[in-house]
Amino acid sequence: MQQLTFTRPDDWHLHVREGAAMHSVVTATARIFSRAIIMPNLKPPVITMAQALAYREAILAALPSGNTFKPLMTLYLTDHTTVETLLELKNTPEVVAIKYYPAGATTNSDSGVTDLRKVWHLLEKIEELQIPLLIHGEVTASSVDIFDRESCFIEHILDPVLQSFPTLRVVLEHITTLQAVEYVLAGSDNLAATITTHHLLLNRNALFTGGIRPHHYCLPVLKREIHRLALLEAATSGNPKFFLGTDSAPHAQTAKESSCGCAGIYTAPAAIELYAEAFEQANALDKLEGFASFYGADFYRLSRNTDTITLRKQAWTMPESLSFGEVQIIPFRAGELIDWQVVSA
Ligand code: NCD
Ligand code: ZN
Repeated sequence: MQQLTFTRPDDWHLHVREGAAMHSVVTATARIFSRAIIMPNLKPPVITMAQALAYREAILAALPSGNTFKPLMTLYLTDHTTVETLLELKNTPEVVAIKYYPAGATTNSDSGVTDLRKVWHLLEKIEELQIPLLIHGEVTASSVDIFDRESCFIEHILDPVLQSFPTLRVVLEHITTLQAVEYVLAGSDNLAATITTHHLLLNRNALFTGGIRPHHYCLPVLKREIHRLALLEAATSGNPKFFLGTDSAPHAQTAKESSCGCAGIYTAPAAIELYAEAFEQANALDKLEGFASFYGADFYRLSRNTDTITLRKQAWTMPESLSFGEVQIIPFRAGELIDWQVVSA
């Protein structure tokens, strides 16, 4: 029997939704992780400091009593964000970053930035204030093949931005390609990336195993095996530019199993266990602690956690479905085995 004890991890990219749905999902993360970066793509999006702080209070109120999980809030960058809001953000420790979605790139991103030139003055200020800018790195043009949207974004949007703002602190979120790995590796220390569990464990065949698999659909979409292998190598390399961000993105079963199913995979109920599985595949369990518990905190200039969690190699079965407010949600690996189990947290 194998057992693994390491510093309590943080999740640097998480969706917890709102209301009853949030009550159903937040504990899955809070049972294990010390902190999580909470994505602002609500309806309407979190664009003011007051909204972010109210959302934070709602999350705290949904936690089981005694749980010390800390939501780290983010604001949603729009064409209309003001410099005053950025200054406020800088002075509010509960809100730690600003999120850039290209308009229309993903779930609830209609308010995203329509043209980066419109927010050039804000990028200048974000750089000056050293606020982490979290980037959903995909172009949205329907003329670009969906599997090429990340690499196209890096070449045509991200690179020119970083040339113009060389000290901007950027997290390229949920990277999915070899090109992203190479770009982050070649960049300065100001550029880092998060990697999800599902992009470490699956390639795009998982979208079509025996039929169409809506619960494996997320954005950026799963890619070819060579990309998965590049992500696995990056995550397990011990390079502090790569750290854990689940992008656990819960949607109701009916919203996924639909003629136009939503993007997003709900991995929170077994997130750290699934990362352990991926790192074990790469023979790199010794690199999991840095990736899951150190490098993200270091990048965000926050203290590392000091307590620990313990996982044991002991298979268990993920339930077929879980409750999600009044409805049901299908978690990642529903009805299937998970190799590792958290035995103390
Ligand atoms: C996310 C969601 O559902 O909010 N979906 C996803 O596929 N990852 C949005 C996002 O992070 O792109
Ligand atoms: Zn996300």
